[in-house]
Amino acid sequence: MPLDDLPLFTQPVASVPPEKARMDALVAELEHHNYCYHVLDAPEISDDAYDALFRELLALEAAHPQWRSPHSPTLRVGGGLLSGLVKKAHRRRMYGLDNVFNAEEWRDFVERMRRALPEAPLAFWCDPKLDGLALEIVYENGVLTEALTRGDGEIGEVVTAAVRTIKTIPLRLRPPAQGGELPARLEVRGEVVIFKADFAALNERRDALGQKTFANPRNAAAGALRQLDTTATSAVPLRFLAYSLGDADWGGAQPCRLQSELMARLRDYGFQTPPDGRLCAGPAEVETYVEQVRQRRESFDMEIDGAVAKQDDLEAQEALGHTARAPRFAVAFKFPAMQARTILRGIEIQVGRTGVLTPVAILDPVAVGGVMVSRATLHNEDEIRAKNIRIGDTVLVQRAGDVIPEVVGPVLEARPADAAEFVFPHVCPVCGQPAHREEGEAAWRCDNLACPAIRLRAISHFVSKAGLDIGGIGQKWIEQLVSSGRVQSPPDLFTLTVPELLQYDRMGDSLAQKFVDAIEQARHTATLARLICGLGIRHVGEQTARQLARHYADLDALAHAGTEELMRLEDIGPEVASSIRAFFANAANAAMLERFRALGLWPSAPAEPAQAAVADGPLAGKTILFTGTLSMKRDDAAKMAEACGAAIAGGVSKKLDYLVAGEKAGSKREKAEKLGIPILSEQEFLDMLRRGE
Ligand code: IVH
Repeated sequence: MPLDDLPLFTQPVASVPPEKARMDALVAELEHHNYCYHVLDAPEISDDAYDALFRELLALEAAHPQWRSPHSPTLRVGGGLLSGLVKKAHRRRMYGLDNVFNAEEWRDFVERMRRALPEAPLAFWCDPKLDGLALEIVYENGVLTEALTRGDGEIGEVVTAAVRTIKTIPLRLRPPAQGGELPARLEVRGEVVIFKADFAALNERRDALGQKTFANPRNAAAGALRQLDTTATSAVPLRFLAYSLGDADWGGAQPCRLQSELMARLRDYGFQTPPDGRLCAGPAEVETYVEQVRQRRESFDMEIDGAVAKQDDLEAQEALGHTARAPRFAVAFKFPAMQARTILRGIEIQVGRTGVLTPVAILDPVAVGGVMVSRATLHNEDEIRAKNIRIGDTVLVQRAGDVIPEVVGPVLEARPADAAEFVFPHVCPVCGQPAHREEGEAAWRCDNLACPAIRLRAISHFVSKAGLDIGGIGQKWIEQLVSSGRVQSPPDLFTLTVPELLQYDRMGDSLAQKFVDAIEQARHTATLARLICGLGIRHVGEQTARQLARHYADLDALAHAGTEELMRLEDIGPEVASSIRAFFANAANAAMLERFRALGLWPSAPAEPAQAAVADGPLAGKTILFTGTLSMKRDDAAKMAEACGAAIAGGVSKKLDYLVAGEKAGSKREKAEKLGIPILSEQEFLDMLRRGE
């Protein structure tokens, strides 16, 4: 080999200490797996294997802090506390976008662009407009060195520490696969968002911990990004989607010429980009694209509020430049807001399947995100009070994702003098029986098993997709069958006959036959999981029902399971277990099950017997929960505890005796601390087993 072709650094390598080499290798390996997991959504190794590598790196860095890499993945973990956000000017201003609302305004925009730069090609890169927060991230020689919020466009806030915790942001740009250098300095711009599903889970978790929930993903993202304590940032599932550049010094790297090329380059560097971006060959194609995005708006993983069209040629972008407020080379097609103002005319109480009384806002009809809304949920009595909502108020109504419309709050400036406070009823509006509100619960509930509203909901649920999935029986027919008294509980469905059904108004031969056939088919094919879910036991949804069906052979076996035994199953906590017990202890429910048996609706499943507790083990009678990363598998730790007689809890509650917390223990630890439950390290737990406590 000619001398010139020898790899650089051949000689110095020999003098790199093995620990340092191992640390560098670990950083590279962890970066790769982080990218596969968070950006590509296609992990190559198990969480446990990742954790083992991560812990190895942590240990090496603790021993050799001088060798810690500035882009080490361990720096992503929240920690340091900033004393205040520092402001800094953007090298290039971060502009907003001008909006167009229809095809005519779009054509005007194209015309203006043509006049300003006649030679500009008419190809446009289009992508959805993400409803998040604009962010600029600076990479020097490929390494993340700084991140700024948009601020007022000229001056932003330095949020580098918080941004480092976002897993979809590379701490170091991935080197181009086809070789070549990384840019000397690159400002990558994009949007910080929270996916809708992550947001729902985040709010659910906060709610369970008694923390305030966020109104929408955007607010949650804004709060998290501007946190001084980055541990709080890392608790929020932020993502970054890249869509443009600020200042760029390509150095020895090949510069991009087209926006479409830039998007591919950003992905190569390791970024996620907005979903469904596309190059459109002319203004008409852009219109079609925007229409498609508009129609699929709610199916996106994140909130979007429009679509953006950008001149594809980056040189033309440069030449077109900006007006005082916005670029001349790009424009946003704004979709109608998912929030709107209207007047709250009244509050109606709806009775749910489990008897919960839900207040529903009756509104002057208003378009929200292109859909007319005249009813919206107010959740419960406390929400109405906390949000200070009165009848007659002008209120803000919101539709977010697939969830039902809700009232965000009143517009206090517009409150009329006669706005009336709502007094929550303490009787069921359907059956007139007294309602109850249990301590620690937000809901008022009708406990009358014979309440027609509850019956109707219970039967609707039984036939729904979550239950036996009996197709073709519309809600209207169920209402008729229930209100006529013919169907009072689910087993009654299985005794319906064609001649009987024909007596109902507008029921024809073929429809009646279809009903009876569908019901008969369900009787033969219903699985145990579906039947359990269809029963409508409080807190038992599809997932829990499947879990129960895996462990119990049939409804008999489940009916005889005690709370302790149930709580040994994964994800079943004390609340769920006692709700299952209460359901089977109820005489009316027991009678219903007997009717199912007599009707031959009695599915069974091969059971994995729930392990009986070791009655005289050293941990007999104790309830334990494991959380965080342990040196062994959590499952194995649980088995050890069970072998000593302990029961494994499904969640943190007052009944828990010990929480064993490993590394990265999160909300469970916080909750246990709040409840004053003893928290053990893995070592303390093992010591306890050894001492036989
Ligand atoms: S391109 C010169 N693409 O919307 C602007 N921006 O309301 C180039 N935004 O400031 C930006 N989604 O923060 C672009 N797919 C997208 C976007 C997007 C959201 C933001 C951006 C901009 C704001 C204007």
